[in-house]
Amino acid sequence: MTAHESGPERAADAPAYRRIFDLTGRDAVVVGAASGIGAVAAAALAAFGASVVCADVDERGLAATVARITGQGGTARSAVADVRSPEDMRRLAGECERTRILLVTPATNVRKRLGDVTDDEFDRIVDLNLRGMFLAVREFGTRMAARSGGSIITVSSIRSQVVEPGQGVYAATKAAVVQLTRAAAAEWGTHGVRANVLVPGIVDTPLAAQIRADPRWRRAYADKSALRRWGRPEELAGAVVYLASEASGFVTGSSVVVDGGWLASTAATNRRCSRCPMPSPRPRCGPTGGWPGISPGFRARTSGRRPRCGRRGRPAGRSTARSSVSSAARTSSCPPGAVPSASGSPAPGAAPREGSSCTATPAAS
Ligand SMILES: NC(=O)c1ccc[n+]([C@@H]2O[C@H](COP(=O)([O-])OP(=O)(O)OC[C@H]3O[C@@H](n4cnc5c(N)ncnc54)[C@H](O)[C@@H]3O)[C@@H](O)[C@H]2O)c1
Repeated sequence: MTAHESGPERAADAPAYRRIFDLTGRDAVVVGAASGIGAVAAAALAAFGASVVCADVDERGLAATVARITGQGGTARSAVADVRSPEDMRRLAGECERTRILLVTPATNVRKRLGDVTDDEFDRIVDLNLRGMFLAVREFGTRMAARSGGSIITVSSIRSQVVEPGQGVYAATKAAVVQLTRAAAAEWGTHGVRANVLVPGIVDTPLAAQIRADPRWRRAYADKSALRRWGRPEELAGAVVYLASEASGFVTGSSVVVDGGWLASTAATNRRCSRCPMPSPRPRCGPTGGWPGISPGFRARTSGRRPRCGRRGRPAGRSTARSSVSSAARTSSCPPGAVPSASGSPAPGAAPREGSSCTATPAAS
């Protein structure tokens, strides 16, 4: 008997509660298991008893993930598969007919302003981030529905909700993943299939390595979250196990945000005065008030001016190091001369991969 079947009369059954995260006997497939969040999630699912098929295009990475899991006593095997290939996804889903847990992570980003994105770049991002996700969800979801049960976990990003210049196409695909997941939840719910989406903040993985390599961007991105730091991939594991298990038996169509408070503090700063830690723009704080991060033009017009703060506000430049206003203000300047970086090494001072597109105007979100 699972915890959610036990009913209120068994609410005091402590052993049942302890089992709600147990995945013993469950077959899981993790697409994107060779690296980052997928690799850690595969290990976590195995640690809770799941038998994990680790799928990816990176054979060496897969071997390392599988070795790590089996070395710790878990059950795992690798499967080379390209999430962009309908044939690969059909074959994988067919081979893994008993899959009860699906996690799909692969994504890419090209950081350019919309006007600079080429047709090929657009297609490449959408092909992996959205079409690939769709193919995996379709192939596994239909089979889970036919077998009356399963948990689908997709991966979006805080970029589904907040965006900065140069993140447009990536952000659009990540927003689409949220709706795709809700659609899966709506269509297969009556067949016992749950579908939920993980929404990470900035996480220390190879996808974000270029950002971390630049101390200014590393700090700037840390300062964007309420916890003032980057996440570790291991910190996504709890949410994945939760969504995979009976612990989330009544949760479907949901977005589970694991972002160290990035979205929360963004919302807070957007409502604050631009120059002082007051909760809302004050009429006398700066020429127009408001948060300069929402308007590069505003910042350009006001840079160098010393704003007048409201009666209870602090003057600009006064140390508010721990306030989200000051930290966000500090993070909102791109290194001088920064230019967009399509891929590969960032141009001097340019924003690296996941998360940032440095442009001539300040761009950090
Ligand atoms: N790292 C972050 O800061 C961050 C922030 C927000 C959202 N995310 C999201 O988390 C997810 C995982 O990101 P990550 O940081 O773990 O990235 P990562 O680059 O470390 O891992 C991605 C994995 O996907 C695999 N992959 C790439 N193309 C593939 C394909 N065609 N078929 C199969 N596998 C393929 C790669 O080989 C790699 O193992 C992504 O969807 C990303 O958008 C990451």
